[in-house]
Formats: sequence, structure tokens, C-alpha cells
Amino acid sequence: MAVYKVKVATGDILQAGTRNSISITLVGSRGESRQTSLNSWFQPGMEKDLTVRCERDLGPVVLIRLHKWRLFLEDAWYCKDVRVTAPDGTLYRFPCYHWLEGVTTVQFREGSGKKLADDELEVLKEHRRQELKARQEAYQWKNFADGWPRCLNVDSILELDSNVQFSCVRATTFTGALIFQRASHLLAAFLLRPTSWKSLDEMRSIFSRTRGREIVPEYVARHWREDDFFGYQFLNGNNPIIIQQCMALPAKFPVTPEMVAGSLGGGTNLGKEMQEGRIFIVDYEVLEGIPASIIHGRQQHMAAPLCLLHQGADGRLRPVAIQLSQTPGPTSPIFLPSDAEWDWLLAKTWVRNADFYSHQLLTHLLRTHLFGEVFAIATLRQLPSCHPLFKLLIPHFHFTLHINTLARSVLINPGGVITKGSGVTYEGMLLIVQRGLEKVTYTSLCLPDDIRHRGMAHLPNYHYRDDGMSLWEAIESFVSGIVAFYYGEDKAVSGDAELQAWVMDIFTNGFLGRTSSGIPSSLQTVAELNKFLTMVVFTCSVQHAAVNNGQYDLGAFLPNSPSSMRHPPPAEKGKAFLQHFLDTIPEVDTTANILVALILLSSRLKDMRFLGQYPEERFTEVEPRRLIRTFQGRLEEIRDSIEERNHHAELRYNYMNPLETENSISI
Ligand code: FE2
Repeated sequence: MAVYKVKVATGDILQAGTRNSISITLVGSRGESRQTSLNSWFQPGMEKDLTVRCERDLGPVVLIRLHKWRLFLEDAWYCKDVRVTAPDGTLYRFPCYHWLEGVTTVQFREGSGKKLADDELEVLKEHRRQELKARQEAYQWKNFADGWPRCLNVDSILELDSNVQFSCVRATTFTGALIFQRASHLLAAFLLRPTSWKSLDEMRSIFSRTRGREIVPEYVARHWREDDFFGYQFLNGNNPIIIQQCMALPAKFPVTPEMVAGSLGGGTNLGKEMQEGRIFIVDYEVLEGIPASIIHGRQQHMAAPLCLLHQGADGRLRPVAIQLSQTPGPTSPIFLPSDAEWDWLLAKTWVRNADFYSHQLLTHLLRTHLFGEVFAIATLRQLPSCHPLFKLLIPHFHFTLHINTLARSVLINPGGVITKGSGVTYEGMLLIVQRGLEKVTYTSLCLPDDIRHRGMAHLPNYHYRDDGMSLWEAIESFVSGIVAFYYGEDKAVSGDAELQAWVMDIFTNGFLGRTSSGIPSSLQTVAELNKFLTMVVFTCSVQHAAVNNGQYDLGAFLPNSPSSMRHPPPAEKGKAFLQHFLDTIPEVDTTANILVALILLSSRLKDMRFLGQYPEERFTEVEPRRLIRTFQGRLEEIRDSIEERNHHAELRYNYMNPLETENSISI
């Protein structure tokens, strides 16, 4: 008689318990036990002990089966883990972290072991095949729109598997916030008229009572007109990835040395500044010819501006020339800081409006949310739960499928927040993202390469770059440790069929098989794998935090980031004045709607998991857990250095503080 001691733990989360009947089967390399009942009634956080008796020793325990059965009412159960102590005292750990629903049997394999698919027992190979088959049926790709990354084939959050849905706590707080957003929207439609703001100061009243959240918006309201702050936002605003060094002016932007001589300061000229790397450019070409929407029966307008910036002797970045179209000519003048106050301010505001679309649709939606979803689906489809890269990556997709499914229902759908509250039509939005994906490169997704490629290595006060590089290196060091432990050599990487299928799934369905993007379709070496994994984790955590967390701060004062423009871009100078400006930026009610959406998108919801926090112990070996602790220690150092810098700063840059950076895209 062989006696096995079993401990079954229920997750310590709301609704995790069950009153349905649960039983277990142990599977060893030499046979399996009989199905043994655990009785019913599990409460959240509860651990249950039982004894499984077998006629003979099962050999190493490699697999368990959990069986859930119900007589009447369904009561889903969230199993945390199972520990089995064999007669010889060996402890086997089975990390589960899985919802069991309905009448079902789910198998889990033992957590440790470096074995890849090729050299394991037949029973485990079969388990791998079955698990992936079931996942590939549950998580299927679909086309949301032509030229977009493919997404999960569901139409609503109700179709989502419990294992990828919001937790009860998160769902409750998010639903509350969503109801607030909807109620505010209706209230705004009832109380507010679609009229222009009476003054710029009046717009400050809208966030003056947001207790604790008004500090940065107040700062923005005081400084938004200044060239310094305009330049600062290209480095440390919501869209810090589109500025690049300008070594030669494009023909479509014919700025002359005379035009900018006054802005560059004495003793220098445009050619010299360009040669020495102090001229920068932002080009919103992607917006050219995009159809604009109609709000309140009134045609809105869009532009595709170009902006030239200069790094002054004090190190600060300031705009020196703006052209509001891609076609130079008499009806598209080049605006300069020496122009009349309202001409220059309006030109800068058009750039900020273009930046709103570029940020929301490309930098935020496409390059974090949609790619994050692609990585998540490919991981669920191609990597079994026992795969070390599944264990490494799955925490970085926590809630991503849920938030993206919601976004497709209320944010980017026809008639959703984006098309109702901004100047872009639904068709225009589809086109911008399609064009954006055509331009995405692997270089641009890997921060060190991206910084080099954009020529941004030496500009001072580029906190996005500095914080991002520290975090990139911390993530790289962590994932390299995991890869070294499980793979060791290049042959193990190139020979891992599941890993290769995963990369190919991402290449095919996320980047539509475009080889010119430089996105790999296979990985041959440990170094290639380290870089790719770092990119995935960085995109889903740090990059999303950098472009998501400041939305309310920098967008609450709407002239700084108008979501729509009601007049066409000026075709000549000398026509802009205050009332024209107020009649161009969004009306009172549109402002209120955008603001409420920004509050929702910048909310601190319950059940947040921050970078490097892995409450689910999926790795059971000592080394990966040591690597996690080292990673957490490094993140604490980065946090301290960010907070030290912020302590002395006029305007703090905290969006990439590990204390504010979620492990995954969940909002
Ligand atoms: Fe987001």
C-alpha cells in the first residue's frame, strides 16, 4: 500500500470557493490512483488535506486530474495549487491558478523540470497536445479590420473564459467607473450646450475640484502656451516616441535658415545646429487625408503637421517652425515663434491635436493594447501551462483580453467614445491604425534600438528614455536569467517547436507576416530569445504605463490636447485671435465627455498588479524564484532614483515609476 498526502488550496480571491463536489486523481510514471473525493465546500483561501491510498507506488507523480461535479447549482471553483507528498517524502507541487466551471476534469502537471516536449513521458506529451488543442479552440484569431493586428474572436466580455476575465473586485470597480462615465455623458448632454467655452480660464473650473488629481492639470493650464512646455511634452508627455533627430530637412518642409535664425540664437545657424545634432523633427504624415467626423452636425477638421524643434544652449527643446500640412505652398504657411501670438499658439495647438490622434490610436492603442493582445493570444494558443515561457509571460497579460474586448465594445466601436468625442471618423480611425501597422518595425519596439534609431541618446531631460532604459535593462536581466536556466544553449531555443510556433503566430497574426518590419518569424539563439521576451514584457508593462498613465494629467486641460478642431487649419497668417481659438477647440459638452473618459482610463482600479509582482507562484524551482526577488530588488532601486529626481523637479515624471507601472495592460 502506498499512501500519498495531498493538500489542495483554493485561491484567496472573491468567489473562489465552491460547494460543488471535487475529487482528484494522481498520475505517476508507473500508474495512476483511483479518483478520490475531497468532499465539497471550499472557501476562499482554504487548504484541504486528504490521503490517497494506492495498491502500489505510482513512481514520480507527474500529473493530477481535478474533477468537478455538481448535482444542482453551478458554483465555479478557483484552484490555487495542489501539493502531493509521496510515501518516500518527495514533495510534488502542482501550480494551478485556474477556474473550474461546470462538470469538468482538468489536468495539471508538476511545476518543476526543464524538460521540453521532445524528451518526456508519453502521458505528458499527450497532456501537452490536449491542452493546446483545447486552448486553440477557446482562443481563436479574428480580423477586427483589414490591416489591423488580429484580435480575439469574441464579441463581448460575456463570451470570455473566466481565466481571462476581470476578477470580481476589478469588474465591480470598473463597472462602477463605467456607469459614472455613462451617467456623466448623459448629464453633459442634458445640462451642457454644444457651445464654445467663454474663456480659457473657465476651462480650469472643470478639474479644479478633483482633489489631489488637479496638480498636474493646474500646472498644464499655467504653462501650456509656453514653447518650453510644448517641447517638453515630446520627451516626457503621453507620446514620447515620435520625435527624432533631423539631419536633413525633408523637401516637403522647406524651412529656410533665415526663418529660424532668430529662434536659434546668435552665433549659429540651421545647418550648423543640424550637423551638431540639435535639430529635431516630428512628422504626422500618417494623418494626411484622413476623413474628419461630424459632431453636433458640424464638420470637424484634421491636419497632418510637421514641427521642427531646436535644443537650446540651456538643453531645452523648443519648437522653431510648424507647417500644418504635408504640402508646402502659399496656403500652408510655415508658422514661427516670431508670428503674432494667436497665430503661433493656434499652430502649436494643431500639432497638439494631431498628437492626440497619434498618441491614442498608434502609440497607445496599436503599439501597446493591440500588440499586448496579440502576445497574449499567441501565448495561450501555442505554449502549454508547463512551458517556462508561459509561466514567465502569462502574468503580463493579466486582464488584457478583457479590457481590449471592452474597448472594442465602447471605445473604438462605431459611435464609441473615440468617434463621438474626437474629430476622426470610424473609417478614419481604421485607416490610421492600418497605416500605423504598416510602419511598425522591430527596432521601434525595442527601446535601446529605438533611441539609437531616432538619434535621441544624448538629449538631456528625456526621462522617458532614462527611466525606460533602466527598466528595459532590469527586465532583460530577469528574462535572461529565466532563459539561461531553462534553455542554456542556442540549440535548445531553435529546437523548441512550441516556442517557434509562438513566434510565428505573433509574426503572422500580429504583424501580418510583413518581413520588412524586421519582426522575427523564428528565434535561433538565446540572445534573440532574450531580446524578444524583453520586448514583450516591456511593451505590456512599462511602455503601456508610459503612454497610459499621464492621459488625465496632460489631457484634462483640453487646449493642451484638443480631441477635435472645429475650423480648418489656417491657410494664412494674421487671422487668429482668442474667439477664433475658442471656436476651434471642442465645445463645452465634448470637453466634458472627453474628460470623463480620461478619468476612467487613468483610474486606479482595484486588483492592480505592479511590475515584478507575481502573486501566483507558477515557478516552483528555487532559481526562478531567486531571479524574481533580484528583479524586485532592482525595481526598488529604480523607484528610489525616480522619486529622488522627482523630489527636485518642477514637474514630476512618475509615469514609469514601478509603483505606478502595472505588470500588464489592464486599463
Ligand atoms: Fe491603456
